[in-house]
Amino acid sequence: MIGIVTSVKPYPVSPMRAVPTSIPRPEYVGNDRPEQYSGSHVQTPQTIAKMRVAGRIAAQALNAGAAIVAPGVTTEQIDQVVHDFLIANNAYPSTLDYRGFPKACCTSVNEVICHGIPDARPLEDGDLIKIDVTAFVDGVHGDNCATYGVGEVDEESRLLAERTKQAMERGIRAVRPGREISVIGRVIEAYAKRFGYGVVRDYTGHGVHSAFHSGLVIPHFDNPYYTEVMEPGMTFTIEPMLAMGDQRSHVWDDGWTVVTNDGSRVAQWESTLVVTDDGAEVLTVA
Ligand code: MF3
Ligand code: CO
Ligand code: CO
Repeated sequence: MIGIVTSVKPYPVSPMRAVPTSIPRPEYVGNDRPEQYSGSHVQTPQTIAKMRVAGRIAAQALNAGAAIVAPGVTTEQIDQVVHDFLIANNAYPSTLDYRGFPKACCTSVNEVICHGIPDARPLEDGDLIKIDVTAFVDGVHGDNCATYGVGEVDEESRLLAERTKQAMERGIRAVRPGREISVIGRVIEAYAKRFGYGVVRDYTGHGVHSAFHSGLVIPHFDNPYYTEVMEPGMTFTIEPMLAMGDQRSHVWDDGWTVVTNDGSRVAQWESTLVVTDDGAEVLTVA
C-alpha cells in the first residue's frame, strides 16, 4: 500500500547560522538570485581538479550529517553538523542564502521531494530522510544527496531508497561523450517504471562548476528534446527523485518545501560528475 497520510508538517526554523568571513562566498550570497551563467559547459582540467576537492568535502559533510540520523534527532541538528563540518574545512555551504534558502543543507523527509528546510521536527522511527549537501570551495561547487532510513523503515521504503540509488548509478553509467543528454533520463525512467515508481519531472539534474546551477538541464525522465551532446570536461549532476506513487508535486507556503500531491514517499540520490573520454568520473567521493 502507498502511504497517503501526510506525515510532515512545517516546524520552526532557527535563524541563519554565520560563516566566518575568512571563507570565500559565492557571488549570490546577499543577493536575490545568482548571476546567469553564460560560459561553456566544458570545464578546464584546473576547474575539474578544484571540483574534486569541493566534491570530496561535500561527500564527507553528507556522511557527517548522516552519521547522527536517528529517531528524536531534529533536522536542524543535522544541519548544524553539516554546517560545522563545511566551515571547519574552509568550505561555504552553497545552499546558505542561495535565493534566500536559510540553511547549510536540504533535509527532505518522507513525502518531501526536495528543498526541505532543516527545522525543529524530530525524526521519527520509520522516516525516510534525504540529505542534500553542496560545498563551495576555491570558486567551485560539489553537490550530492543520499537517502537514509530512520530506525526501522518498512521494506517498501528500503527498496525505494536502494532502487533510487541504482537508478542514479545506471544514469551515471549511461554517460559517454558523443551521446545526447536525453539518454540519461531514458535509462533512469525505464528502470523506475519496472517498479511502478513515479519519476519527478519538475526538478532535474544540472550543470555545476563555478555556477551552482549553470543552466544545463539533465532530466531524469525520457525526453527526446534534450539533444545536447555530452563532451569530455562537461560537469553536471544526476539526481533522480523517485516516488512510490505519483510524482506530481506542489510547494509549501514557505516557498521551498516540495511535496508529492498524493503524499507518497520519495527517495533521492545525487552525484556530481565530469564526462571523461570514455564515460564519467564521479567527483563527490568521500
Ligand atoms: N542541492 C540542490 C540541488 O541538488 C539545490 C538546493 S537549492 C536550495 O540542486 F536552495 F534549496 F538549497
Ligand atoms: Co543538484
Ligand atoms: Co543537491
